Amino acid sequence: MKRDIISVMDMKDDFEDILASAVKMKKEPKKGSKQDVLKGKVLGMVFEKPSLRTRISFEVGMTQLGGKAVYIGPDEVSIGKRESVSDVANVLSRYVNAIMYRAFSNQTMRELAKHASVPVINGLDDLEHPCQCAADLLTVMEKKGKLKGLQLVYVGDGNNVCNSLLLGCALTGMNMRAATPKDFKPNADILAKAQEIAKGKGGRIETLSNPYQAVEGADVIYTDTWVSMGQEAEKQAREKLFLPYQVNDKLAEKANKDYIFLHCLPAHRGLEVSAEVIDGPHSVVFDEAENRMHAQKAILVAVLGK
Ligand code: CP
Ligand code: NVA
Repeated sequence: MKRDIISVMDMKDDFEDILASAVKMKKEPKKGSKQDVLKGKVLGMVFEKPSLRTRISFEVGMTQLGGKAVYIGPDEVSIGKRESVSDVANVLSRYVNAIMYRAFSNQTMRELAKHASVPVINGLDDLEHPCQCAADLLTVMEKKGKLKGLQLVYVGDGNNVCNSLLLGCALTGMNMRAATPKDFKPNADILAKAQEIAKGKGGRIETLSNPYQAVEGADVIYTDTWVSMGQEAEKQAREKLFLPYQVNDKLAEKANKDYIFLHCLPAHRGLEVSAEVIDGPHSVVFDEAENRMHAQKAILVAVLGK
Protein backbone atom coordinates (compact mmCIF):
# COMPACT_ATOMS: atom_id res chain seq x y z
CA MET A 1 0.00 0.00 0.00
CA LYS A 2 1.22 3.52 -0.76
CA ARG A 3 2.17 5.83 2.07
CA ASP A 4 0.98 9.45 1.94
CA ILE A 5 2.44 12.13 4.23
CA ILE A 6 -0.40 14.65 4.44
CA SER A 7 -0.20 15.29 8.18
CA VAL A 8 2.47 14.90 10.85
CA MET A 9 0.12 12.14 12.07
CA ASP A 10 1.13 10.12 9.01
CA MET A 11 4.55 9.82 10.70
CA LYS A 12 3.13 8.98 14.14
CA ASP A 13 4.67 5.51 14.29
CA ASP A 14 8.15 6.38 13.01
CA PHE A 15 8.62 10.12 13.48
CA GLU A 16 11.71 9.72 15.64
CA ASP A 17 13.12 7.06 13.26
CA ILE A 18 12.70 9.53 10.40
CA LEU A 19 14.55 12.20 12.40
CA ALA A 20 17.32 9.72 13.25
CA SER A 21 17.61 8.76 9.59
CA ALA A 22 17.83 12.46 8.67
CA VAL A 23 20.71 12.92 11.13
CA LYS A 24 22.51 10.02 9.44
CA MET A 25 21.92 11.38 5.96
CA LYS A 26 23.17 14.81 6.96
CA LYS A 27 26.50 13.27 7.98
CA GLU A 28 26.93 11.72 4.55
CA PRO A 29 28.62 13.76 1.82
CA LYS A 30 26.41 16.47 0.39
CA LYS A 31 27.86 16.42 -3.07
CA GLY A 32 28.63 13.46 -5.30
CA SER A 33 26.83 11.19 -2.88
CA LYS A 34 27.20 7.51 -3.63
CA GLN A 35 23.74 6.90 -2.27
CA ASP A 36 21.40 5.63 -4.91
CA VAL A 37 18.49 4.55 -2.75
CA LEU A 38 16.05 6.26 -5.10
CA LYS A 39 17.87 5.59 -8.35
CA GLY A 40 15.46 5.85 -11.28
CA LYS A 41 12.67 7.30 -9.12
CA VAL A 42 10.99 10.56 -10.11
CA LEU A 43 9.21 13.00 -7.82
CA GLY A 44 6.57 15.26 -9.39
CA MET A 45 6.37 18.58 -7.54
CA VAL A 46 3.06 20.38 -7.99
CA PHE A 47 2.98 23.96 -6.74
CA GLU A 48 -0.10 26.18 -6.44
CA LYS A 49 1.95 28.79 -4.54
CA PRO A 50 5.52 30.14 -4.65
CA SER A 51 8.44 28.47 -2.86
CA LEU A 52 12.18 28.71 -2.33
CA ARG A 53 13.00 26.14 0.33
CA THR A 54 10.44 23.45 -0.49
CA ARG A 55 11.17 23.40 -4.19
CA ILE A 56 14.95 23.47 -4.01
CA SER A 57 15.35 21.18 -1.00
CA PHE A 58 13.14 18.49 -2.54
CA GLU A 59 14.83 18.77 -5.91
CA VAL A 60 18.37 18.65 -4.54
CA GLY A 61 17.35 15.95 -2.05
CA MET A 62 16.01 13.71 -4.81
CA THR A 63 19.18 14.27 -6.87
CA GLN A 64 21.38 13.34 -3.90
CA LEU A 65 19.39 10.13 -3.46
CA GLY A 66 19.97 9.18 -7.10
CA GLY A 67 16.51 10.18 -8.36
CA LYS A 68 15.03 13.19 -10.15
CA ALA A 69 12.41 15.82 -9.45
CA VAL A 70 10.15 17.54 -11.95
CA TYR A 71 8.75 20.99 -11.14
CA ILE A 72 5.15 21.66 -12.12
CA GLY A 73 4.23 25.30 -11.53
CA PRO A 74 0.83 26.91 -10.97
CA ASP A 75 0.50 28.16 -14.56
CA GLU A 76 1.26 24.79 -16.11
CA VAL A 77 -1.41 22.72 -14.40
CA SER A 78 -3.98 25.14 -12.95
CA ILE A 79 -5.20 22.29 -10.81
CA GLY A 80 -8.98 22.21 -10.42
CA LYS A 81 -9.38 24.89 -13.13
CA ARG A 82 -7.78 23.67 -16.36
CA GLU A 83 -8.15 20.09 -15.22
CA SER A 84 -9.88 18.33 -12.32
CA VAL A 85 -7.85 17.30 -9.28
CA SER A 86 -8.66 13.63 -9.90
CA ASP A 87 -7.50 13.76 -13.54
CA VAL A 88 -4.25 15.44 -12.52
CA ALA A 89 -3.75 12.75 -9.86
CA ASN A 90 -4.44 9.92 -12.29
CA VAL A 91 -2.24 11.29 -15.07
CA LEU A 92 0.70 12.16 -12.84
CA SER A 93 0.54 8.70 -11.25
CA ARG A 94 1.36 7.23 -14.68
CA TYR A 95 4.59 9.26 -14.93
CA VAL A 96 6.09 9.72 -11.48
CA ASN A 97 6.81 7.58 -8.44
CA ALA A 98 5.58 10.13 -5.89
CA ILE A 99 3.98 13.56 -5.84
CA MET A 100 4.97 16.46 -3.62
CA TYR A 101 2.09 18.93 -3.56
CA ARG A 102 1.86 22.51 -2.27
CA ALA A 103 -1.84 23.36 -2.17
CA PHE A 104 -4.13 26.13 -1.09
CA SER A 105 -6.50 23.75 0.62
CA ASN A 106 -6.16 20.59 2.66
CA GLN A 107 -9.32 19.35 0.96
CA THR A 108 -7.64 19.45 -2.48
CA MET A 109 -4.55 17.84 -0.94
CA ARG A 110 -6.66 14.93 0.34
CA GLU A 111 -8.54 14.66 -2.93
CA LEU A 112 -5.29 14.43 -4.90
CA ALA A 113 -3.99 11.78 -2.50
CA LYS A 114 -7.24 9.82 -2.80
CA HIS A 115 -7.00 9.63 -6.59
CA ALA A 116 -3.23 9.23 -6.94
CA SER A 117 -1.93 5.68 -7.01
CA VAL A 118 1.50 6.97 -5.93
CA PRO A 119 2.41 8.48 -2.52
CA VAL A 120 1.58 12.15 -1.96
CA ILE A 121 3.73 14.33 0.30
CA ASN A 122 2.27 17.57 1.65
CA GLY A 123 4.61 20.47 0.84
CA LEU A 124 2.25 22.86 2.72
CA ASP A 125 -1.47 23.47 2.64
CA ASP A 126 -3.77 25.66 4.70
CA LEU A 127 -3.89 23.14 7.56
CA GLU A 128 -0.38 21.69 7.90
CA HIS A 129 3.27 21.83 6.87
CA PRO A 130 4.55 18.41 7.99
CA CYS A 131 7.95 18.49 6.23
CA GLN A 132 8.69 21.83 7.88
CA CYS A 133 7.86 20.32 11.27
CA ALA A 134 10.25 17.41 10.69
CA ALA A 135 13.04 19.88 9.81
CA ASP A 136 12.21 22.04 12.83
CA LEU A 137 12.40 19.20 15.32
CA LEU A 138 15.55 17.88 13.65
CA THR A 139 17.08 21.32 14.28
CA VAL A 140 15.98 21.34 17.93
CA MET A 141 17.41 17.84 18.40
CA GLU A 142 20.74 18.93 16.89
CA LYS A 143 21.01 22.08 18.98
CA LYS A 144 19.66 20.75 22.29
CA GLY A 145 20.66 17.08 22.10
CA LYS A 146 17.13 15.90 22.86
CA LEU A 147 13.45 16.69 22.34
CA LYS A 148 11.54 15.16 25.25
CA GLY A 149 10.81 17.58 28.05
CA LEU A 150 11.88 20.73 26.16
CA GLN A 151 9.58 23.76 26.06
CA LEU A 152 8.76 25.14 22.62
CA VAL A 153 6.84 28.40 22.50
CA TYR A 154 5.13 29.42 19.27
CA VAL A 155 4.17 33.10 19.07
CA GLY A 156 1.84 34.61 16.47
CA ASP A 157 -0.68 33.13 14.06
CA GLY A 158 -2.12 29.68 14.85
CA ASN A 159 -1.55 28.61 11.24
CA ASN A 160 -0.44 25.53 9.26
CA VAL A 161 3.09 25.64 10.70
CA CYS A 162 1.75 25.95 14.24
CA ASN A 163 -0.70 23.06 13.71
CA SER A 164 2.03 20.70 12.52
CA LEU A 165 4.31 21.73 15.40
CA LEU A 166 1.56 20.90 17.92
CA LEU A 167 1.45 17.35 16.57
CA GLY A 168 5.24 17.03 16.26
CA CYS A 169 5.84 18.27 19.82
CA ALA A 170 3.13 15.98 21.17
CA LEU A 171 4.58 12.91 19.40
CA THR A 172 8.09 13.57 20.71
CA GLY A 173 7.15 14.36 24.32
CA MET A 174 7.96 18.06 24.04
CA ASN A 175 5.92 20.75 25.77
CA MET A 176 4.43 23.40 23.54
CA ARG A 177 2.64 26.67 24.22
CA ALA A 178 1.05 28.58 21.38
CA ALA A 179 0.46 32.26 22.13
CA THR A 180 -1.96 33.70 19.59
CA PRO A 181 -4.67 36.36 19.49
CA LYS A 182 -7.94 34.74 20.56
CA ASP A 183 -9.41 34.61 17.05
CA PHE A 184 -6.23 33.09 15.55
CA LYS A 185 -5.84 29.96 17.63
CA PRO A 186 -4.57 26.77 15.99
CA ASN A 187 -7.05 24.29 14.52
CA ALA A 188 -9.28 22.97 17.33
CA ASP A 189 -9.25 19.31 16.20
CA ILE A 190 -5.48 19.27 15.85
CA LEU A 191 -5.07 20.93 19.25
CA ALA A 192 -7.33 18.33 20.89
CA LYS A 193 -5.45 15.50 19.15
CA ALA A 194 -2.07 16.92 20.22
CA GLN A 195 -3.26 17.28 23.81
CA GLU A 196 -4.49 13.69 23.85
CA ILE A 197 -1.15 12.39 22.49
CA ALA A 198 0.84 14.60 24.88
CA LYS A 199 -0.99 13.13 27.85
CA GLY A 200 0.35 9.69 26.97
CA LYS A 201 3.89 11.02 26.43
CA GLY A 202 4.14 13.13 29.57
CA GLY A 203 4.17 16.42 27.65
CA ARG A 204 1.96 19.49 27.98
CA ILE A 205 0.32 21.36 25.11
CA GLU A 206 -1.33 24.70 25.90
CA THR A 207 -2.69 27.73 24.10
CA LEU A 208 -2.80 31.19 25.60
CA SER A 209 -3.01 34.77 24.44
CA ASN A 210 -0.28 36.53 26.40
CA PRO A 211 3.07 36.14 24.59
CA TYR A 212 5.09 37.29 27.63
CA GLN A 213 3.52 34.66 29.84
CA ALA A 214 4.02 32.06 27.11
CA VAL A 215 7.72 32.69 26.54
CA GLU A 216 8.64 32.21 30.20
CA GLY A 217 11.12 29.28 30.39
CA ALA A 218 11.21 28.69 26.63
CA ASP A 219 13.98 26.50 25.20
CA VAL A 220 12.75 27.28 21.68
CA ILE A 221 10.91 30.35 20.42
CA TYR A 222 9.19 29.92 17.06
CA THR A 223 7.31 32.37 14.92
CA ASP A 224 5.99 32.53 11.36
CA THR A 225 4.53 35.17 9.08
CA TRP A 226 1.30 36.85 10.16
CA VAL A 227 0.06 36.73 6.56
CA SER A 228 0.20 33.28 5.05
CA MET A 229 0.05 32.70 1.31
CA GLY A 230 -3.54 33.20 0.23
CA GLN A 231 -4.31 35.72 3.01
CA GLU A 232 -2.85 38.76 1.23
CA ALA A 233 -6.21 40.62 1.32
CA GLU A 234 -6.07 40.59 5.14
CA LYS A 235 -2.49 41.92 5.27
CA GLN A 236 -3.20 45.36 6.73
CA ALA A 237 -5.65 44.19 9.37
CA ARG A 238 -3.43 41.28 10.41
CA GLU A 239 -0.27 43.36 10.68
CA LYS A 240 -2.04 45.72 13.07
CA LEU A 241 -3.67 43.04 15.16
CA PHE A 242 -0.56 40.88 15.53
CA LEU A 243 1.84 43.67 16.49
CA PRO A 244 1.87 42.72 20.22
CA TYR A 245 3.08 39.26 19.12
CA GLN A 246 6.35 40.41 17.59
CA VAL A 247 9.32 38.32 18.73
CA ASN A 248 11.92 40.88 19.79
CA ASP A 249 14.62 41.14 22.47
CA LYS A 250 12.14 42.40 25.06
CA LEU A 251 9.96 39.32 24.63
CA ALA A 252 12.88 36.91 24.29
CA GLU A 253 14.28 38.14 27.63
CA LYS A 254 11.67 35.95 29.30
CA ALA A 255 13.03 32.81 27.64
CA ASN A 256 15.82 30.60 28.98
CA LYS A 257 19.25 32.16 28.45
CA ASP A 258 20.21 29.49 25.92
CA TYR A 259 16.97 29.58 23.94
CA ILE A 260 17.10 29.04 20.20
CA PHE A 261 15.00 30.97 17.69
CA LEU A 262 13.29 29.19 14.79
CA HIS A 263 11.31 30.56 11.82
CA CYS A 264 10.25 28.50 8.81
CA LEU A 265 11.01 31.50 6.50
CA PRO A 266 10.26 33.61 4.53
CA ALA A 267 10.61 36.14 7.39
CA HIS A 268 9.52 39.76 7.67
CA ARG A 269 11.92 41.72 9.82
CA GLY A 270 10.13 44.40 11.85
CA LEU A 271 6.86 42.47 11.75
CA GLU A 272 6.67 38.97 13.29
CA VAL A 273 10.34 39.14 14.29
CA SER A 274 12.82 41.93 14.91
CA ALA A 275 16.11 41.95 13.00
CA GLU A 276 18.00 41.76 16.31
CA VAL A 277 16.42 38.37 17.09
CA ILE A 278 16.45 36.71 13.66
CA ASP A 279 19.97 37.97 12.89
CA GLY A 280 21.16 37.54 16.48
CA PRO A 281 23.13 34.82 18.28
CA HIS A 282 20.12 32.69 19.29
CA SER A 283 18.80 32.35 15.75
CA VAL A 284 19.33 29.03 13.95
CA VAL A 285 17.01 29.71 11.02
CA PHE A 286 19.52 28.85 8.30
CA ASP A 287 20.40 25.51 9.91
CA GLU A 288 16.65 24.97 10.05
CA ALA A 289 16.30 25.80 6.35
CA GLU A 290 19.16 23.44 5.49
CA ASN A 291 17.49 20.74 7.55
CA ARG A 292 14.45 20.82 5.28
CA MET A 293 16.54 18.88 2.80
CA HIS A 294 17.87 16.30 5.26
CA ALA A 295 14.48 15.71 6.87
CA GLN A 296 12.79 15.39 3.47
CA LYS A 297 15.41 12.95 2.22
CA ALA A 298 14.52 10.76 5.20
CA ILE A 299 10.81 11.17 4.42
CA LEU A 300 11.38 10.34 0.73
CA VAL A 301 13.24 7.16 1.66
CA ALA A 302 10.51 6.20 4.14
CA VAL A 303 7.90 6.65 1.42
CA LEU A 304 9.76 5.45 -1.69
CA GLY A 305 12.69 3.35 -0.51
CA LYS A 306 12.62 -0.43 -0.74
N1 CP B 1 9.47 27.30 4.74
C1 CP B 1 9.01 27.09 3.49
O1 CP B 1 8.18 26.21 3.22
O2 CP B 1 9.57 27.92 2.54
P1 CP B 1 9.13 28.04 1.01
O3 CP B 1 7.74 28.65 1.01
O4 CP B 1 10.14 28.93 0.39
O5 CP B 1 9.10 26.68 0.40
N1 NVA C 1 2.38 29.97 7.10
C1 NVA C 1 3.13 30.27 5.92
C2 NVA C 1 4.31 29.36 5.79
C3 NVA C 1 5.20 29.64 4.61
C4 NVA C 1 6.30 28.64 4.47
C5 NVA C 1 2.23 30.19 4.70
O1 NVA C 1 1.37 29.30 4.66
O2 NVA C 1 2.36 31.02 3.80
